[in-house]
Amino acid sequence: MDTDVVVAQVIFEDVYKSFPARKGDRTANPTSVDPSLSSTTSTQPKSKDDTKSDTVTILRHINFSVEDGEFMVLVGPSGCGKSTLLRLIAGLEDLTGGSIRIGDRKINHLPPKARDIAMVFQSYALYPHMSVYNNLAFGLRRTQSQRDPKRHSISASLRRKLESGLVSATRILPKPFRYRSKREKLIEQTVHQVAEILQIETLLDRLPKQLSGGQKQRVALGRAMARDPQVFLMDEPLSNLDAKLRTQTRAQIVKLQRQLGTTTVYVTHDQTEAMTMGDRIAVMNAGQIQQIASPLELYNQPINRFVAQFIGSPPMNFISVQVRSSRSLQHPQFTLTLPEVWEMVLQNYQGQTLTLGIRPEHLDLASPNSSNIPTQVELVEALGHETYLSLQLTQNSQMAHAPAPLIARINPYQQVSLGEQLWFSVQLDKIHLFDQQTEAAIRPSHLPAPTH
Ligand SMILES: Nc1ncnc2c1ncn2[C@@H]1O[C@H](COP(=O)(O)OP(=O)(O)OP(=O)(O)O)[C@@H](O)[C@H]1O
Ligand SMILES: [Mg+2]
Repeated sequence: MDTDVVVAQVIFEDVYKSFPARKGDRTANPTSVDPSLSSTTSTQPKSKDDTKSDTVTILRHINFSVEDGEFMVLVGPSGCGKSTLLRLIAGLEDLTGGSIRIGDRKINHLPPKARDIAMVFQSYALYPHMSVYNNLAFGLRRTQSQRDPKRHSISASLRRKLESGLVSATRILPKPFRYRSKREKLIEQTVHQVAEILQIETLLDRLPKQLSGGQKQRVALGRAMARDPQVFLMDEPLSNLDAKLRTQTRAQIVKLQRQLGTTTVYVTHDQTEAMTMGDRIAVMNAGQIQQIASPLELYNQPINRFVAQFIGSPPMNFISVQVRSSRSLQHPQFTLTLPEVWEMVLQNYQGQTLTLGIRPEHLDLASPNSSNIPTQVELVEALGHETYLSLQLTQNSQMAHAPAPLIARINPYQQVSLGEQLWFSVQLDKIHLFDQQTEAAIRPSHLPAPTH
């Protein structure tokens, strides 16, 4: 593979994207219609169904950069705008506002071909008449000739013609006797290297129709990787693989990306994939970036309730509690006394109702006590290495309605039966608190300000 790999930073500056509104978009999409943007989209064609100047804003205020060689994962629920953001980088959609730069080049108006980007789509396509080898080599041949600074000289063109003549003339001969140029040898080396990493070496002579869905997907991945672009864009490239192959290929992609050091933007809605692959993760919701941070920072210090419930599986538990004194949180069934670090910040919330967030692994089986949570077991999910319990908080007359079930992770050797009454203590140094209006996280005073 090329030794002088060019890597690049991708910078988003106040990126916006709107589409002309379709019937029903106003009610269907919570982020719909941003009047401040309608003038910028006045050139967009409108169907008869559209009311005047209506647009649906899919992405707004996108401001961040993906560093040189970084593996950035975009994660968020379906329809939040992940693929649209990738398509903007690739040049498959036009920006409505803002700009995108790769290194020091502003790429807003560059055609896709000129951007030196390789993209693997959610639904991939291989050339059906070409073998796996040629599918992998195809992009590489094009990229290499485009990068050759002497490609337009007469001698280079004569050499290419002569070489392609020799290649065609010797193609009917057995493999060892076929003519291969220096460039073709380099391509062969790269193809084998990528095929080895993706474990498709034995498939190189097959046609796409002779492959399974998972194998095709790995060839599509390999084709993008072999091209050695400035930036890789991957849109849920593992969606067609079974669970085992998914885990394996996930590791292979990360390994290859580390070897090549190519800046990568990887889209998924699977939070496990995001946590295991990304150097950093950008969590998106409804067209906006919620938080960008390393996997563990996102897990330990989510910036708001959305990130807290999206990252982590099973998700965080949420319970409404009232701030009684600067260190005491009250619920009709229990009272928690928080560590001293909360004292200063909670002074501002005296008497207010906040949302308490507790991850399933931060609840521990305990004895009946006013600082512990009384529950009834509704469901037992024994996974072998760990067991999850779905629990109903025991109701009393002060609780207007039944709260959502809680999930607790317990030791798999603990015997638990359905309907059993259990008490849980809370690991108080691991709790999260959220403002009920803004849903923003409230931080204890010893923690630094969150990223993004
Ligand atoms: N060409 C288009 N015209 C109008 N609306 C579009 C267009 N392309 C996408 N959208 C809308 O933009 C929103 C974001 O779509 P996008 O494909 O970016 O979501 P996504 O986050 O990739 O979702 P998924 O995880 O399901 O792939 C969706 O509501 C979609 O319907
Ligand atoms: Mg998508």
